[in-house]
Amino acid sequence: MTTTTTVAAPRVDGEQNPLRAGLPSSRITDPCTIVLFGATGDLTMRMLMPALYSLRVHDMLPADFAIVGYSRTQWSDDQFREAMKRSIQQFGADVGAPEGAIWDDFVRRLSYISGDFDDVACYESLRKHLEEDLSEFQTRGNVLYYLATPPVVFGEIVKHLDLAKLGPEDTKGWCRLVIEKPFGTDLVSARKLQSQIERVFSEKQIYRIDHYLGKEPVQDLLALRFSNVIFEPLWNYRYIKSVQITAAETVGVEQRGGYYDRAGALRDMIQNHVINLMTLVAMEPPVSADADALRDEKFKVLRATRPIPAGRMDEFAVRGQYGEGEVAGKEAPAYRSEPDVGAKSNTETFAAVKLSIDNWRWGGQVPFYLRSGKRLKRKNSEIAIEFRNVPHRLFGEMGDQFEANSLVVRIQPEEGISLSFNAKYPGQAMHIRTVSMDFAYGSGFGTKGAPAYERLLADAMRGNQTLFTRWDAVEAAWEVVTPVLEYWEDTRAKDFPNYAAGSQGPKAADELLAREGEAWRQL
Ligand code: BG6
Repeated sequence: MTTTTTVAAPRVDGEQNPLRAGLPSSRITDPCTIVLFGATGDLTMRMLMPALYSLRVHDMLPADFAIVGYSRTQWSDDQFREAMKRSIQQFGADVGAPEGAIWDDFVRRLSYISGDFDDVACYESLRKHLEEDLSEFQTRGNVLYYLATPPVVFGEIVKHLDLAKLGPEDTKGWCRLVIEKPFGTDLVSARKLQSQIERVFSEKQIYRIDHYLGKEPVQDLLALRFSNVIFEPLWNYRYIKSVQITAAETVGVEQRGGYYDRAGALRDMIQNHVINLMTLVAMEPPVSADADALRDEKFKVLRATRPIPAGRMDEFAVRGQYGEGEVAGKEAPAYRSEPDVGAKSNTETFAAVKLSIDNWRWGGQVPFYLRSGKRLKRKNSEIAIEFRNVPHRLFGEMGDQFEANSLVVRIQPEEGISLSFNAKYPGQAMHIRTVSMDFAYGSGFGTKGAPAYERLLADAMRGNQTLFTRWDAVEAAWEVVTPVLEYWEDTRAKDFPNYAAGSQGPKAADELLAREGEAWRQL
């Protein structure tokens, strides 16, 4: 039994690691042009460009590639290149300074188009860029469109790609579309967006990104479940008492108040990231590792998720909004005082829901408690499987308070897995204590995985849809949360703000579990 701590570790694609011996290279082989719509936005600067450059530095990108940025900002190619260099300097982890031969080769492949997303002339210009890339960088006409824009223009861009004959029917090579979340703002708008997109792209060409699925421990959950024999026999209502899935953040809404105040925690985190985690925990073993085999099983979980009964929403869903407080020793303002947030905002910055799954494995008897919030005590995303207690207690009459077993997959910040169990405390008396076995990624493998965006960008270029959400699952997830959203929109939260920044969240969330004799794991 060991307790390990996370250590700084090199990247997993470093070929020197002996534990990597014999694994094939994960280099992307197909050449392509990546078109970034929203190329001057926050997502491109913080995530996409550093991820692309990191892929290049780690020799994962195909030998022939090009990147075209497209945004409203009036920039020249050189201004775009300079801005991307700054973004890599600021946000690119473990890639070193963008300079030298690798940077020179990368930067010459960047070009830029400025204009509105409904400007026909810009799409003509895009066509020229793609043709030039084809001849100069041998991209074979393959193109990956990445929509990193505000969601209101997703439909517009797809329509114009089609009008300009730049869609899959007309491109010379393959043509794929990566779409950021949120995919719609409720069930109706998601269906409308889907119908706009499917006129042009087929499901096999659409990559709906959920960056949580690109996180290493999330994928390891699949390895844990389906490459070990010891967990799966227990993975059902007979042995599991409840499941808690947490995505807690310490940050507030930062500069995104305008977006967030119309979204809220249920739309921003639960409908996509947290529900996706739930489906991976709850699904049946897929028949193969093929993208659709896995996505079929994820979808079935959502089909089996019991709708929250109308008229009883408060028994199943709780919302919160942070007031002022202190996070990590620093004063934090109330949500309603954040930039671009209404002074009387009714938007939730914390959401917790209790769901049940009506199928053979779960029998509707295992509550899945999901929670996510901003400005909480600690950044912590994890999946906790709480097992049932032993059927008969032989020990414990001498005041021992030992706990039922639990298995925790820590997604961030300290990626790893812990299994808690009970053991005898040394000595002559039979005292029992709960102890844990810990696995930490960094020290366990002596290496760490690629950041989520790198993994997902690479998968989209490889044409691997496994970690992207299929439309049926997006739609089913909206079906689960939309009744709660509507109820919350129709009824003002009278107690907002109801939790202090830096706390564990609202009291009502504790009560949600206390009613069933349960408690949230402390952050
Ligand atoms: C995004 C949300 O999808 O995920 C943000 O829009 C949130 O509001 C972020 O802060 C959290 O991601 P991570 O990887 O930091 O847990």
